[in-house]
Order: sequence, then C-alpha cells, then structure tokens
Amino acid sequence: MVAFNLFILKTPRLFLGTNNYLEIHNYNKVISMVERVKTGIPGLDEILNGGIPKRNVVLLSGGPGTGKSIFSYQYLWNGLKQGEPAVFVALEEHPVQVRINMSQFGWDIRPYEREGVFAIVDAFTSGIGEAAKKERYVVTDPEDVGLLVDVLKQAIRDTGAVRVAVDSVSTLYLAKPALARRTVMLLKRVLSGLGTTSILVSQVSVTERGFGGPGVEHAADGIIRLDLDEVDGELVRSMIVWKMRGTRHSMKRHPFEITDKGIIVYPEKVVRIGRAFRVEPV
Ligand SMILES: Nc1ncnc2c1ncn2[C@@H]1O[C@H](COP(=O)(O)OP(=O)(O)OP(=O)(O)O)[C@@H](O)[C@H]1O
Ligand SMILES: [Mg+2]
Repeated sequence: MVAFNLFILKTPRLFLGTNNYLEIHNYNKVISMVERVKTGIPGLDEILNGGIPKRNVVLLSGGPGTGKSIFSYQYLWNGLKQGEPAVFVALEEHPVQVRINMSQFGWDIRPYEREGVFAIVDAFTSGIGEAAKKERYVVTDPEDVGLLVDVLKQAIRDTGAVRVAVDSVSTLYLAKPALARRTVMLLKRVLSGLGTTSILVSQVSVTERGFGGPGVEHAADGIIRLDLDEVDGELVRSMIVWKMRGTRHSMKRHPFEITDKGIIVYPEKVVRIGRAFRVEPV
C-alpha cells in the first residue's frame, strides 16, 4: 500500500494503483491525494469520481427490494476478486441464505472463507440451530452491540479485511432509535480505525424521503440512496450519491439495473423525478 499525506507538485497527476484509484487535487499548488476503494460495480466508480475514499463509512439507504443487499455482496465480491479480504455482517438473513443469495450471481464465497480471507459475522441466528453451529463468527446476543463489535473486530483482524458490509444497521436500533447515532458512531470508529472502507445498509420505508434518521445521516461519511419508483406502470430503479466526504461526485440521479451478474449503473443517464418521470440522456 502506498503511504502519503501531502505533496507539493507543479502539475496534477493521476495515479492508478492495482487495487485502489488514487487521485490528486490541486488546491493552491498543495496537492492532496485521495486513496480510493473501487466498488467495481459497473458505472458506480464513474459517478464517485473513481471510487469510495478509503476508510469512509457509507450509509447505503433504500426501501425494500431496492438492491441494498445485492450492492453489498457485489462490493465485497469485487474486492475479493482483486485480493482484498472482506467481512459481511448478517443481521437480516441466515448466513446460509447469504451464501445462497451470493451464489445466484455467480459469487461463490466459500473458497474465500476456507482460505480465511472472507468471513460472515452471524448476527442473525444467536447461535440457534444446527447450521449456526458451523459458523465461526457468531454474535450470541445480536441485541448486544458491544458484543457484535467484538466479534466483528476479531473477524476483521483474522481476515485482514479491507472491505466490510453490515446488513443492516437499522436492525441494531429499530427498537431504540435514541441509540442510532451512538451505534453508528461506534461502528464508524471501529471500521474506520481498523482501516476498512465500509457499507452500512440502512432500511427506510417506501415513502420515507430520508436515509435513516438525522443521527446516522450526519455520522456517515457518505450516503448512497437506492430508489424504486413507478413510471408509466413500471418500476424504475435509480441511485443518487447524496454525500461522499473527501470527493467530488455526480449530483445526478442515475438509473441502474439488477441483472444476473449484479448491479449495473448508467452514469450517462439521469432519472428526473417530478410529476412525470423520464429517463433520458444527461
Ligand atoms: N437475478 C436477478 N435479476 C434481476 N433482478 C433481481 C435478481 N435477483 C434479485 N433481483 C431483484 O433484487 C431485489 C432484491 O434486492 P435486495 O435483496 O438487494 O433488496 P434489499 O434492498 O436488500 O431489500 P430488503 O430491504 O428487503 O432487504 C428483488 O426484489 C428483485 O427485484
Ligand atoms: Mg436486504
């Protein structure tokens, strides 16, 4: 990994690493480089100006069925393919189901688990059931965020994870919204502190315009929102990057698709939401 802070250069340059996309901004001739983690999701890195700035904790919010879990799987899988270990925290689904879901897109994570570079933290089963007994990282009381963080830290250290996805953080504070900000800040300190670049899935209701509540929205370094809207009797998927600390990004709402190979974003197209919905060239 390249180490750097601030450099003074005469001309801005672009560096392309093997795993990360590095960029130099020219501010009064003091050049700062942003190390990025490429999501590898077709079209998304373009609208993020190269990828997610390293160590950012990104809130991925959206209603039911908008593609949050698939996005998370794809983000981790793309990292694994280029040698970046990863951890998935399963709070919504059984780890066995997560493996099945991923394999449906051709993402077979089992060899990576055996190799010790991918881990699922089971914060779903509480260790109940035969299948759960085979899991290595089990949070016996998913209500206990402190315990979850301990298991997560262990999984990150064991695998050397660079990417983490938590699906979903909303589950952690559904019954106690007052703890939302504290929970997200705790996760952020741990995830960022251990050097990972992470996705926190945030569930919002179909009609909700926000991203998961003021506490978590401000705590997160980035917010990507996935939407599903009815246009002429058909559901259209779109994505908007609401904020991303440390980088310039597209301010447009872009259409995307879910295919058998995962998510494809169309950076050259924009979805306009108003009385009439239209998808048209930018
Ligand atoms: N192979 C596929 N091809 C096309 N679309 C698919 C495919 N598999 C799943 N989908 C779409 O993805 C949706 C599920 O996506 P996903 O599970 O990521 O949603 P989610 O945002 O995590 O929802 P929830 O909040 O309910 O967990 C399905 O409702 C379906 O529309
Ligand atoms: Mg989901």
